[in-house]
Amino acid sequence: MGEGKIVVAIDSELKHNAVDLARSVSDYIYAVKVNWPLILERGIGIVKELSSITRVICDLKLADIPNTNRLIAEKIISAGGFAIIAHAFCGMDSLKAVKFTEKVRLISVIAMTHPGGDEYINGHWEKLLKTATEAGSYGIIAPGNNPVILSRVKKSAGELKIFSPGIGTQGGDPVTAIKNGADFIIVGRTVYDSDDPVSVVSEMRSRIGSYD
Ligand code: XMP
Repeated sequence: MGEGKIVVAIDSELKHNAVDLARSVSDYIYAVKVNWPLILERGIGIVKELSSITRVICDLKLADIPNTNRLIAEKIISAGGFAIIAHAFCGMDSLKAVKFTEKVRLISVIAMTHPGGDEYINGHWEKLLKTATEAGSYGIIAPGNNPVILSRVKKSAGELKIFSPGIGTQGGDPVTAIKNGADFIIVGRTVYDSDDPVSVVSEMRSRIGSYD
């Protein structure tokens, strides 16, 4: 398995087949992240396939009642998913249902990268962080393109791993995000829409350099 701080989000196969893409960048990255577009296209089998190449973070942003969250989480873990992303705003019981066994790595969303994030969720990150921590999360999602929130989150996150999307297309810079507290940066379109994903990822890894 590759190491480092880069997580590649594979949300589209318009330019590159997901398995080929994962294979080509696997030495430079910590994990890939899959979301609804790829799972709806390929089925849950894609999680199993990618898991033979690298860690697979399943970003379904679970936001349902505990029973439904648990049923989905069970499927993801059976398919070999490394971690599951769920929304913290549904509360403790819903989050704990995702972590239905100790071995589930739960990553809880406490703030978001897009402008709409400022309408609701981003004003509540402190409370959401508390819920995420008490639910036994492995990590949290905090915006890599919002240095103010990210650096505040870092001060309160304790041992939780911070995963930060919003890098590249959404304006965030990998090194700045890491300096502000990101343990891992999540990059999607900048990689999967590129003609040369391997160069993009290897250059990013060199830029991160000593922060690796
Ligand atoms: P791009 O193309 O913008 O893709 O690099 C980013 C990837 O990360 C997801 N994303 C988020 N996930 N909280 C999350 O949990 C966020 O605030 C957030 N912003 C982007 C997005 O779905 C895509 O897969």
